[in-house]
Amino acid sequence: MEFKQFSQVAILLGMVVILIFFVLCKVLYSWLVLPKLKYQKLKENGFEGPAPSFPLGNINEMKKELMNTASSATSSPSLSALKISHDIHSLAFPYFAKWQKLHGKVFIYWLGTEPFVYIADPEFIKKMSAGVMGKSWGKPTVFKRDRKAMFGKGLVMVEGDEWVRHRHLITPAFTQANVKGMASLMAESAKNMLDRWTALIDSGNPEINVEKEIINTAGEIIAKTSFGINYENGEKVFNKLRSMQFTLFKSTRYVGVPYGNLIMCPKETLKAHNLGMEIDSLLMSIIEDRKKMKKDDLAQHDLLSLLLAGNGKTLSTRELVDECKTFFFGGHETTALALTWTLLLLAVHTEWQTQLREEIKQVMGDAEIDPIRLACLRKMGWVINEVLRLYSPAPNVQRQTREDIQVDNLVIPKGTNIWIDLVSMHHDKQLWGEDVNEFKPERFKDDMIHGGCKHKMGYLPFGFGGRMCIGRNLTMMEYKVVLFLILTNFSFSISPNYRHCPSIMLSLRPTLGLPLILQPL
Ligand code: HEM
Repeated sequence: MEFKQFSQVAILLGMVVILIFFVLCKVLYSWLVLPKLKYQKLKENGFEGPAPSFPLGNINEMKKELMNTASSATSSPSLSALKISHDIHSLAFPYFAKWQKLHGKVFIYWLGTEPFVYIADPEFIKKMSAGVMGKSWGKPTVFKRDRKAMFGKGLVMVEGDEWVRHRHLITPAFTQANVKGMASLMAESAKNMLDRWTALIDSGNPEINVEKEIINTAGEIIAKTSFGINYENGEKVFNKLRSMQFTLFKSTRYVGVPYGNLIMCPKETLKAHNLGMEIDSLLMSIIEDRKKMKKDDLAQHDLLSLLLAGNGKTLSTRELVDECKTFFFGGHETTALALTWTLLLLAVHTEWQTQLREEIKQVMGDAEIDPIRLACLRKMGWVINEVLRLYSPAPNVQRQTREDIQVDNLVIPKGTNIWIDLVSMHHDKQLWGEDVNEFKPERFKDDMIHGGCKHKMGYLPFGFGGRMCIGRNLTMMEYKVVLFLILTNFSFSISPNYRHCPSIMLSLRPTLGLPLILQPL
């Protein structure tokens, strides 16, 4: 009897040992062997870059460079408006600026055990993407995992046939005609913001941190245009989404390090996960309520209504939840930061404030918001394009190859992560000439699409190919509505308290906000 029991325990123990052995082998294979194989393959294919260490890759060096840059930028004295330099690549991405000097415009660097091919060469992008369809590109698996709570399986992250289905169903919601219908919603929120500014100025506070104000307003606009903030829950969702973004991106991330975020920042990771669950259930209830409405009642001009009215073909509730989150994250901060950087540049170059006001007077007369006339503001268009060049709110584009891709004598192996550095290309003297770091909206006068860039793929504020930003029309409408209202109500200059230190927190932002001195017109 005892012998039987002993042999059962021995068998059980044996099984546990075998299981542990297999788990260890799997961990060793994916943490050590697989990265090494990928590294060798990339090296054999002609790529090189800074030497990685296990398990952080190049993250420590990146952190060190960032800390050095951040401490010198934030502690620097305030600059006179004229001394503000737009040569910002080495501030935003100090590690890439350093590695570029050593390894050129295409190299490999490592986030944890994940190699990334870094690209800041438009000719390389052109050759790499020739013949690769939107649906054949993947998105880095590490980012999909890391940003699951934010985007889920929304359009930014889906791939292949799923991406085609989502893109087909979503594109009609963003047509010019639909976006025009949202102009009054946008103006309503912007006017509320301007009323707050007037009240602040009247109470003797002409210095306003416009970055914070505009981000809140853009959040309200995207909530309204996505799922209608009239719902009691709209504001709750917005606040939770913001809180999740801060939780996830405030500190240095350990993306690519196996279980890195779980081990190094467990509190934040858990908080983001819980916020993600709460947001999902709030959005679920908003969407379920909408689904119960009659078709006629859905005639609102928000994105959710447009998606639900999609002629019988629609996304599931789960998919709609992820798309609403995607619109929020993809749409509100990028637009808000584009507007914020525009105000900075117009505050430095006040002659452009005057020029834009004159154009508004000529084109719009005394008309209220009119989407058709707004589209005719050409100089405003140049200013917007120049801001998106110098301070691209989306500073990079990411891809993952789903097949081997040949570029001249190099092969990018299937499964390789790709990081395209837009900030670098937008500040490259070889592409733009000696005046690359000057604010010159007129460079877009005769070439509205490329701004005179020597390479057609050198100016990509909205990405490229089939996966180009779906929200461009919406952004342009919001951008023009808000800028029109600000310019026709206030003049502004930079506060002496402004510190110029652009940094990346998912988007390119002014680290310490943008205090401006405003004066009602
Ligand atoms: C100034 C504002 C904006 C900028 C600079 C911007 C920039 C970008 C960039 C660079 C991409 C990646 C494209 C690529 O991978 O090639 C992208 C994709 C995307 N953007 Fe925007 N965006 C802006 C506004 C918006 C808005 C307002 C929305 C929605 C409400 C939006 C939704 C999306 C979505 C869903 C994608 C993924 C498209 C796909 O993969 O098919 N964006 N955006």
